[in-house]
Amino acid sequence: MKIIRTKDYADMSRKAANIISAQVIMKPDCVLGLATGGTPVGTYEKLVERYNEGDLDFSEVTSVNLDEYRGLPKEHPESYWSFMHRNLFDHVNIDPAHINLPDGTNLDAEAECKRYDEVIRSVGGVDLQLLGIGHDGHIGFNEPHDAFDLGTHCVDLAQETIEANKRFFDGNVDLVPKQAYTMGIRTIMQARKVLMVVNGVGKAEIVKKAFFGPVTPEVPASILQLHPDFILVGDEEALSLI
Ligand code: F6R
Repeated sequence: MKIIRTKDYADMSRKAANIISAQVIMKPDCVLGLATGGTPVGTYEKLVERYNEGDLDFSEVTSVNLDEYRGLPKEHPESYWSFMHRNLFDHVNIDPAHINLPDGTNLDAEAECKRYDEVIRSVGGVDLQLLGIGHDGHIGFNEPHDAFDLGTHCVDLAQETIEANKRFFDGNVDLVPKQAYTMGIRTIMQARKVLMVVNGVGKAEIVKKAFFGPVTPEVPASILQLHPDFILVGDEEALSLI
C-alpha cells in the first residue's frame, strides 16, 4: 500500500488526476474503473482540465463504473449514469460505445449481474480502479457483511443510506431506490491498480480502521491491504490518525 498525503481537497484531486492521467498516457486503450460520490468530483474536474489543455485523449479508453441504482431510469439526474456524464463523459472525447455501467433499468438482477461481469471480462479486466470509501468502510455498494461478495450483485440499501439520499429525491423516501447493482470485491481486487481518494476529518476513523486494522468483511475496504498495487491519496484531515 502506498499512501500519498496531500494538503487539501484540491491537492488530493490534482494528485489523483496525475495518477489517472499517467495511466491513460501510458496505455491509451486502458480500462478505467470509475466511482461516483462527492470525493472524486474534483478529480474528474482536473481530468477535464487536462483534456482541454490537450494533454489527455480518451478516444480509446473504456470505462466500467462500480455501481448503479436498480430501477432508476438512466436519465434521472441522480442515476450514476447521469452523474458520470455530468462530471466527466460529456466533457471529454470518450467513445459512448466504450462507456459501461450496470443497467439499473434491467430489473432482472441475476441476468444484469451476469451481463456486467461478462462486460468486465470481455474488456480484459480493469487497469485502474478509482474508489471512494464510505464511513462504514464500504467500497462500491459492498457494505459490511459476514463475507466478501465476489462478483457483481444486487444489494438492498441500508435504511440510513435511503434516509441520507432522500434529499436528492424531493425529500421523499418513497422515491429513493431501495436497491443497487455493484461490482463485487473480487472484481475490485482483480483491478491491476487501485486508487482510493479520501478527504475530510469525517473519514479519519474509517481510514485508520480499514488500513491499519484487521482485514475483515465487516470493513470491506480493509481487503485492499492485500492488493499488490493499492494507492491511497488522502488529504491531511482524512490521514490525521495514521
Ligand atoms: C460510488 C461508490 C461509493 C462511494 C462512497 C463514498 O460509486 O461506490 O462507495 O465511493 O460512498 O462516497 P463519498 O465520496 O460521497 O463520500
